[in-house]
Amino acid sequence: MDKFIIQGGKKLSGSIAVNGAKNSALKILAALILSPDKCVIKNFPFIEDTLGAIAILEKLGAKVEINREEKIVTIDPSKINKTELDDLLVRRLRSSILFAGPMLARFGKVKMYHPGGCFIGRRPIDIFLDGFKAFGADIKMSEDEFEVSAKELKGANIFFPKITVTGTEAMMMTAVLAKGKTILQNCAMEPEIPVLADYLNKCGAKIKGAGTSIIEIEGVDKISGGEFTVIPDRIEAGTFVIMGLLMQSEIKIENCIPEHLGALIPILQEAGANLEIGNDYIKTKPSEMKAVSVMTHEYPGFATDAQPPYTLLMTQAHGQCIIHEAIFEGRLFFTDQLVTMGANIIMCDPHRVVINGPTKLFGKKLTSPDLRAGITMVLAGMTAEGQTTIENIYQIDRGYEKIEERLQKIGADIKRVKE
Ligand code: EPZ
Repeated sequence: MDKFIIQGGKKLSGSIAVNGAKNSALKILAALILSPDKCVIKNFPFIEDTLGAIAILEKLGAKVEINREEKIVTIDPSKINKTELDDLLVRRLRSSILFAGPMLARFGKVKMYHPGGCFIGRRPIDIFLDGFKAFGADIKMSEDEFEVSAKELKGANIFFPKITVTGTEAMMMTAVLAKGKTILQNCAMEPEIPVLADYLNKCGAKIKGAGTSIIEIEGVDKISGGEFTVIPDRIEAGTFVIMGLLMQSEIKIENCIPEHLGALIPILQEAGANLEIGNDYIKTKPSEMKAVSVMTHEYPGFATDAQPPYTLLMTQAHGQCIIHEAIFEGRLFFTDQLVTMGANIIMCDPHRVVINGPTKLFGKKLTSPDLRAGITMVLAGMTAEGQTTIENIYQIDRGYEKIEERLQKIGADIKRVKE
């Protein structure tokens, strides 16, 4: 297994460009199944999760052309000739649940393993299955896989019991080809959702309200293919801003959409961050950080995906704060590895930790449990004195393309060692 070796304490300088968003690319890779026509995806992030999703499409029979230099992926879904998703691939990719709705809507059935959970929590799919039933589908469940089928999908009224990002996206996609009107309530409002709806509407869908808590979809018989541009990754952008603050460095985070970072920016500024916010960039300057408590919340609140790097930043801030991870029950356990480095973090319960700072961190041998905790360990190694080794970096490559090359360019001392 590859690992990263990091020598800490190196100041950073220069610019780092933000990649296309994993959580935007994964959705178009599912939504394109709704049409037999070709889909051209631009600004594509070549990371483990998106390459895994492409592999699922290829196993279904779709034809895929990849142009890494231009960051373009062209997919021909007309060749899809299977309705059963590859077991191994599905179990590695939680977001493979996104394929179920479009497969059901286009082919009338889909069979797949329960998608992989991940370290951050159980990741149930009850809301998806209840949603498919609301459209009139039948569900056959066995211990580890399920099959959804329907002669015809009828428009449904779905009130989500919890705000779910992929649940909102999955039901929105499914409704596009259902007969009649669908109303979705208590929807997620993450920026990736209206971006997806705009694409589908350009292809002939009739979606209104995406990006708000109520989405209405008028079903149509078919939609065309089209060209989709992946938006900049707001979580990667936020992570790089926190990195600049941690390293007390002046860096420019380019190709980002600052307003997509939601509450993270005002909270960092409340904690003393000295930031220059441009139209498509953010500049960090050395800042005296003070502890500010946060609770994670659906967009535009403080994003749960930005919680791990922010938690690390608070170990270097002056004072005491509480980090309340309200969305996932397993997303704070990584902090025990920060404690081994010297951080002063007390876990109150799986959802809350108390941090006292600042404390000096010392390099250690760490293991990445999931992609957001994994990138946080990279930042911790950069912050710490001495050498840090990070194992299981597949869980970082899942979401951050060529991350060590990009960090080396702005002065980090990090190298990938192939085992
Ligand atoms: C999306 O996951 C993102 N993934 C996650 O990013 C992100 O952390 C999460 O939204 C919250 O912002 C993608 O977009 C591919 P949820 P998702 O459904 O949709 C519960 C990353 O690091 N729930 O919004 O799977 C669930 O347990 C990943 O890039 C049910 O109970 O998250 C959670 O408590 C991690 N039943 C809450 O809803 C269901 O059927 C919100 O989860 C579905 C979800």
